[in-house]
Amino acid sequence: MGVRRTAAERMKAANAALRAEVRRRRSAETELRRSAREIQRYARRLLAVREEEKRNLAAALHHELGSLSVGLAAGLHAARLALPPGAADARRRLEETEAILRGTVSRLRDTAVDLRPADLDAMGLKAALRATVERLSRLVPVRIRLGCRLGDTPLSPSASIAVYRIAQEALTNCLKHASPHRISLDVRVLKDTVRLSVTDDGRGFDPARTNGRGTDRHLGLQAMREMVRSLGGEFTLHSKPGRGTRLHVRLPVDGNGAGGGE
Ligand SMILES: Nc1ncnc2c1ncn2[C@@H]1O[C@H](COP(=O)(O)OP(=O)(O)OP(=O)(O)O)[C@@H](O)[C@H]1O
Ligand SMILES: [Mg+2]
Repeated sequence: MGVRRTAAERMKAANAALRAEVRRRRSAETELRRSAREIQRYARRLLAVREEEKRNLAAALHHELGSLSVGLAAGLHAARLALPPGAADARRRLEETEAILRGTVSRLRDTAVDLRPADLDAMGLKAALRATVERLSRLVPVRIRLGCRLGDTPLSPSASIAVYRIAQEALTNCLKHASPHRISLDVRVLKDTVRLSVTDDGRGFDPARTNGRGTDRHLGLQAMREMVRSLGGEFTLHSKPGRGTRLHVRLPVDGNGAGGGE
Protein backbone atom coordinates (compact mmCIF):
# COMPACT_ATOMS: atom_id res chain seq x y z
CA MET A 1 0.00 0.00 0.00
CA GLY A 2 2.75 2.42 1.07
CA VAL A 3 4.81 1.34 -1.91
CA ARG A 4 1.88 1.90 -4.33
CA ARG A 5 1.23 5.38 -2.96
CA THR A 6 4.87 6.26 -3.39
CA ALA A 7 4.75 5.04 -6.99
CA ALA A 8 1.60 7.13 -7.63
CA GLU A 9 3.21 10.14 -6.03
CA ARG A 10 6.31 9.68 -8.08
CA MET A 11 4.20 9.54 -11.24
CA LYS A 12 2.36 12.71 -10.19
CA ALA A 13 5.61 14.50 -9.50
CA ALA A 14 7.01 13.38 -12.87
CA ASN A 15 3.86 14.64 -14.61
CA ALA A 16 4.09 17.96 -12.87
CA ALA A 17 7.74 18.28 -13.84
CA LEU A 18 6.86 17.42 -17.43
CA ARG A 19 4.11 20.02 -17.50
CA ALA A 20 6.48 22.62 -16.06
CA GLU A 21 9.05 21.73 -18.72
CA VAL A 22 6.45 22.03 -21.49
CA ARG A 23 5.41 25.45 -20.10
CA ARG A 24 9.04 26.55 -19.93
CA ARG A 25 9.69 25.52 -23.51
CA ARG A 26 6.53 27.18 -24.75
CA SER A 27 7.46 30.43 -23.11
CA ALA A 28 11.04 30.15 -24.45
CA GLU A 29 9.59 29.61 -27.94
CA THR A 30 7.30 32.62 -27.57
CA GLU A 31 10.24 34.70 -26.40
CA LEU A 32 12.34 33.48 -29.35
CA ARG A 33 9.60 34.36 -31.83
CA ARG A 34 9.21 37.77 -30.20
CA SER A 35 12.92 38.56 -30.49
CA ALA A 36 12.99 37.31 -34.10
CA ARG A 37 10.17 39.79 -34.85
CA GLU A 38 12.09 42.53 -33.01
CA ILE A 39 15.23 41.85 -35.04
CA GLN A 40 13.23 41.89 -38.26
CA ARG A 41 11.63 45.19 -37.30
CA TYR A 42 15.01 46.62 -36.37
CA ALA A 43 16.53 45.51 -39.68
CA ARG A 44 13.67 47.17 -41.57
CA ARG A 45 14.19 50.37 -39.62
CA LEU A 46 17.92 50.23 -40.36
CA LEU A 47 17.24 49.87 -44.07
CA ALA A 48 14.85 52.82 -44.02
CA VAL A 49 17.39 55.00 -42.20
CA ARG A 50 20.14 53.98 -44.62
CA GLU A 51 17.98 54.91 -47.60
CA GLU A 52 17.10 58.22 -45.95
CA GLU A 53 20.78 59.00 -45.44
CA LYS A 54 21.59 58.09 -49.02
CA ARG A 55 18.77 60.32 -50.20
CA ASN A 56 20.13 63.28 -48.18
CA LEU A 57 23.67 62.68 -49.35
CA ALA A 58 22.54 62.42 -52.97
CA ALA A 59 20.56 65.65 -52.71
CA ALA A 60 23.50 67.49 -51.11
CA LEU A 61 25.93 66.12 -53.70
CA HIS A 62 23.62 67.07 -56.52
CA HIS A 63 23.11 70.57 -55.18
CA GLU A 64 26.80 71.24 -54.46
CA LEU A 65 27.85 69.80 -57.81
CA GLY A 66 25.45 72.03 -59.67
CA SER A 67 26.81 75.29 -58.29
CA LEU A 68 30.43 74.13 -58.17
CA SER A 69 30.56 72.96 -61.77
CA VAL A 70 28.75 76.01 -63.14
CA GLY A 71 31.08 78.34 -61.20
CA LEU A 72 34.26 76.51 -62.19
CA ALA A 73 33.28 76.14 -65.83
CA ALA A 74 32.42 79.85 -66.09
CA GLY A 75 35.74 80.80 -64.45
CA LEU A 76 37.77 78.58 -66.78
CA HIS A 77 35.90 79.84 -69.82
CA ALA A 78 36.49 83.48 -68.81
CA ALA A 79 40.19 82.75 -68.21
CA ARG A 80 40.48 81.19 -71.67
CA LEU A 81 38.85 84.24 -73.33
CA ALA A 82 41.17 86.59 -71.45
CA LEU A 83 44.29 84.88 -72.78
CA PRO A 84 46.43 86.87 -75.21
CA PRO A 85 46.40 85.52 -78.79
CA GLY A 86 49.81 83.82 -78.60
CA ALA A 87 49.24 81.80 -75.40
CA ALA A 88 48.62 78.45 -77.10
CA ASP A 89 50.17 76.43 -74.27
CA ALA A 90 48.06 78.04 -71.56
CA ARG A 91 44.97 77.65 -73.76
CA ARG A 92 45.64 73.93 -74.20
CA ARG A 93 46.08 73.49 -70.43
CA LEU A 94 42.84 75.29 -69.69
CA GLU A 95 41.02 73.12 -72.23
CA GLU A 96 42.45 69.98 -70.59
CA THR A 97 41.36 71.25 -67.17
CA GLU A 98 37.84 71.84 -68.49
CA ALA A 99 37.75 68.26 -69.84
CA ILE A 100 38.89 66.86 -66.46
CA LEU A 101 36.22 68.92 -64.73
CA ARG A 102 33.51 67.60 -67.08
CA GLY A 103 34.66 63.99 -66.46
CA THR A 104 34.74 64.42 -62.67
CA VAL A 105 31.32 66.05 -62.55
CA SER A 106 29.82 63.28 -64.67
CA ARG A 107 31.32 60.56 -62.42
CA LEU A 108 30.04 62.32 -59.31
CA ARG A 109 26.60 62.60 -60.95
CA ASP A 110 26.64 58.82 -61.49
CA THR A 111 27.50 58.39 -57.81
CA ALA A 112 24.58 60.61 -56.83
CA VAL A 113 22.29 58.57 -59.09
CA ASP A 114 23.54 55.32 -57.50
CA LEU A 115 22.91 56.72 -54.05
CA ARG A 116 19.40 57.74 -54.85
CA PRO A 117 18.07 57.17 -58.34
CA ALA A 118 15.91 60.16 -59.19
CA ASP A 119 14.12 57.86 -61.65
CA LEU A 120 12.90 55.66 -58.82
CA ASP A 121 11.17 58.62 -57.18
CA ALA A 122 9.99 60.37 -60.30
CA MET A 123 9.27 57.63 -62.83
CA GLY A 124 9.11 54.50 -60.75
CA LEU A 125 10.87 51.17 -60.65
CA LYS A 126 10.55 50.20 -64.31
CA ALA A 127 12.15 53.39 -65.63
CA ALA A 128 14.87 53.27 -62.95
CA LEU A 129 15.76 49.67 -63.91
CA ARG A 130 15.76 50.57 -67.59
CA ALA A 131 18.07 53.55 -66.93
CA THR A 132 20.45 51.34 -64.92
CA VAL A 133 20.53 48.68 -67.63
CA GLU A 134 21.12 51.31 -70.32
CA ARG A 135 23.92 52.93 -68.33
CA LEU A 136 25.68 49.59 -67.72
CA SER A 137 25.22 48.51 -71.34
CA ARG A 138 27.05 51.64 -72.44
CA LEU A 139 29.96 50.79 -70.14
CA VAL A 140 30.46 47.10 -70.98
CA PRO A 141 29.96 45.02 -74.12
CA VAL A 142 27.44 42.62 -72.57
CA ARG A 143 23.86 42.08 -73.68
CA ILE A 144 21.55 42.81 -70.78
CA ARG A 145 17.92 41.84 -71.35
CA LEU A 146 15.33 43.46 -69.14
CA GLY A 147 11.84 42.05 -68.68
CA CYS A 148 9.57 44.01 -66.36
CA ARG A 149 5.89 43.28 -65.74
CA LEU A 150 4.67 45.10 -62.70
CA GLY A 151 0.91 44.91 -63.31
CA ASP A 152 -1.48 47.09 -61.34
CA THR A 153 -0.57 46.13 -57.79
CA PRO A 154 1.43 49.00 -56.29
CA LEU A 155 4.78 48.20 -54.68
CA SER A 156 5.56 49.73 -51.30
CA PRO A 157 8.55 52.14 -51.29
CA SER A 158 10.60 49.58 -49.30
CA ALA A 159 9.83 46.80 -51.76
CA SER A 160 10.64 48.91 -54.77
CA ILE A 161 13.91 50.19 -53.26
CA ALA A 162 14.84 46.61 -52.32
CA VAL A 163 14.18 45.34 -55.86
CA TYR A 164 16.19 48.21 -57.27
CA ARG A 165 19.15 47.74 -54.90
CA ILE A 166 19.22 43.96 -55.37
CA ALA A 167 19.10 44.30 -59.16
CA GLN A 168 21.90 46.87 -58.96
CA GLU A 169 24.13 44.62 -56.81
CA ALA A 170 23.34 41.46 -58.80
CA LEU A 171 24.13 43.15 -62.12
CA THR A 172 27.33 44.58 -60.66
CA ASN A 173 28.32 41.09 -59.47
CA CYS A 174 27.71 39.64 -62.95
CA LEU A 175 29.88 42.31 -64.53
CA LYS A 176 32.56 42.18 -61.85
CA HIS A 177 32.95 38.42 -61.45
CA ALA A 178 31.27 36.47 -64.26
CA SER A 179 32.56 37.76 -67.66
CA PRO A 180 29.21 36.75 -69.19
CA HIS A 181 27.97 37.07 -72.77
CA ARG A 182 24.44 37.63 -71.61
CA ILE A 183 22.60 38.77 -68.53
CA SER A 184 18.91 38.60 -68.07
CA LEU A 185 16.99 40.62 -65.50
CA ASP A 186 13.34 39.82 -64.89
CA VAL A 187 10.96 41.55 -62.54
CA ARG A 188 7.31 40.65 -62.30
CA VAL A 189 4.47 41.01 -59.88
CA LEU A 190 2.19 38.02 -59.38
CA LYS A 191 -0.67 38.59 -56.98
CA ASP A 192 0.92 40.13 -53.89
CA THR A 193 4.48 39.01 -54.56
CA VAL A 194 7.19 40.66 -56.58
CA ARG A 195 9.73 38.28 -58.12
CA LEU A 196 13.13 39.28 -59.30
CA SER A 197 15.58 37.04 -61.09
CA VAL A 198 19.01 37.81 -62.45
CA THR A 199 20.69 35.18 -64.62
CA ASP A 200 24.08 35.24 -66.27
CA ASP A 201 25.87 32.74 -68.51
CA GLY A 202 29.28 33.57 -67.06
CA ARG A 203 31.87 31.64 -65.10
CA GLY A 204 29.74 30.79 -62.08
CA PHE A 205 31.09 29.90 -58.64
CA ASP A 206 30.57 27.57 -55.73
CA PRO A 207 28.11 29.30 -53.34
CA ALA A 208 29.08 26.88 -50.55
CA ARG A 209 32.44 28.60 -50.50
CA THR A 210 30.85 31.87 -49.37
CA ASN A 211 28.62 29.85 -47.01
CA GLY A 212 25.94 32.54 -46.99
CA ARG A 213 28.14 34.75 -44.83
CA GLY A 214 29.77 37.98 -45.95
CA THR A 215 33.31 38.96 -45.13
CA ASP A 216 34.78 42.40 -44.72
CA ARG A 217 35.59 42.38 -48.42
CA HIS A 218 32.52 40.61 -49.78
CA LEU A 219 29.33 42.10 -48.50
CA GLY A 220 27.03 42.20 -51.51
CA LEU A 221 25.37 38.79 -51.30
CA GLN A 222 25.03 39.01 -47.54
CA ALA A 223 23.46 42.49 -47.76
CA MET A 224 20.95 41.20 -50.33
CA ARG A 225 20.02 38.26 -48.09
CA GLU A 226 19.55 40.54 -45.08
CA MET A 227 17.45 42.98 -47.05
CA VAL A 228 15.17 40.20 -48.33
CA ARG A 229 14.88 38.59 -44.89
CA SER A 230 14.04 41.87 -43.20
CA LEU A 231 11.15 42.36 -45.64
CA GLY A 232 9.84 38.84 -45.12
CA GLY A 233 10.90 37.49 -48.52
CA GLU A 234 12.91 34.57 -49.91
CA PHE A 235 16.35 34.60 -51.48
CA THR A 236 17.86 31.78 -53.53
CA LEU A 237 21.09 31.55 -55.46
CA HIS A 238 22.13 28.79 -57.85
CA SER A 239 25.58 28.72 -59.30
CA LYS A 240 28.21 26.23 -60.42
CA PRO A 241 31.70 26.85 -61.73
CA GLY A 242 31.41 27.07 -65.53
CA ARG A 243 27.59 27.03 -65.48
CA GLY A 244 26.56 30.64 -64.82
CA THR A 245 24.61 32.06 -61.92
CA ARG A 246 20.93 32.54 -61.20
CA LEU A 247 19.62 34.61 -58.36
CA HIS A 248 15.97 34.60 -57.42
CA VAL A 249 14.14 36.80 -54.94
CA ARG A 250 10.50 36.87 -53.84
CA LEU A 251 9.17 39.76 -51.77
CA PRO A 252 5.73 40.73 -50.55
CA VAL A 253 4.63 43.82 -52.53
CA ASP A 254 3.70 45.63 -49.34
CA GLY A 255 7.31 45.20 -48.19
CA ASN A 256 6.30 44.06 -44.71
CA GLY A 257 7.22 40.67 -43.35
CA ALA A 258 5.18 38.44 -41.07
CA GLY A 259 6.46 40.58 -38.22
CA GLY A 260 3.97 43.37 -38.96
CA GLY A 261 4.48 47.05 -39.77
CA GLU A 262 7.06 49.61 -38.63
N1 LIG B 1 27.33 36.45 -60.85
C1 LIG B 1 28.45 35.95 -60.32
N2 LIG B 1 29.31 35.19 -61.08
C2 LIG B 1 30.44 34.67 -60.55
N3 LIG B 1 30.82 34.81 -59.26
C3 LIG B 1 30.03 35.54 -58.44
C4 LIG B 1 28.81 36.14 -58.91
N4 LIG B 1 28.22 36.78 -57.88
C5 LIG B 1 29.03 36.59 -56.81
N5 LIG B 1 30.12 35.85 -57.14
C6 LIG B 1 31.18 35.39 -56.22
O1 LIG B 1 30.72 35.51 -54.89
C7 LIG B 1 31.59 36.35 -54.15
C8 LIG B 1 30.79 37.18 -53.13
O2 LIG B 1 30.00 38.16 -53.80
P1 LIG B 1 29.63 39.49 -53.01
O3 LIG B 1 28.72 40.30 -53.86
O4 LIG B 1 29.13 39.09 -51.66
O5 LIG B 1 31.03 40.22 -52.77
P2 LIG B 1 31.91 41.03 -53.83
O6 LIG B 1 31.13 41.33 -55.08
O7 LIG B 1 33.20 40.28 -54.00
O8 LIG B 1 32.22 42.37 -53.03
P3 LIG B 1 31.16 43.55 -52.70
O9 LIG B 1 29.83 43.14 -53.23
O10 LIG B 1 31.17 43.64 -51.20
O11 LIG B 1 31.70 44.75 -53.38
C9 LIG B 1 32.33 37.17 -55.18
O12 LIG B 1 33.59 37.59 -54.70
C10 LIG B 1 32.45 36.20 -56.33
O13 LIG B 1 33.53 35.31 -56.13
MG1 LIG C 1 29.20 42.17 -54.94
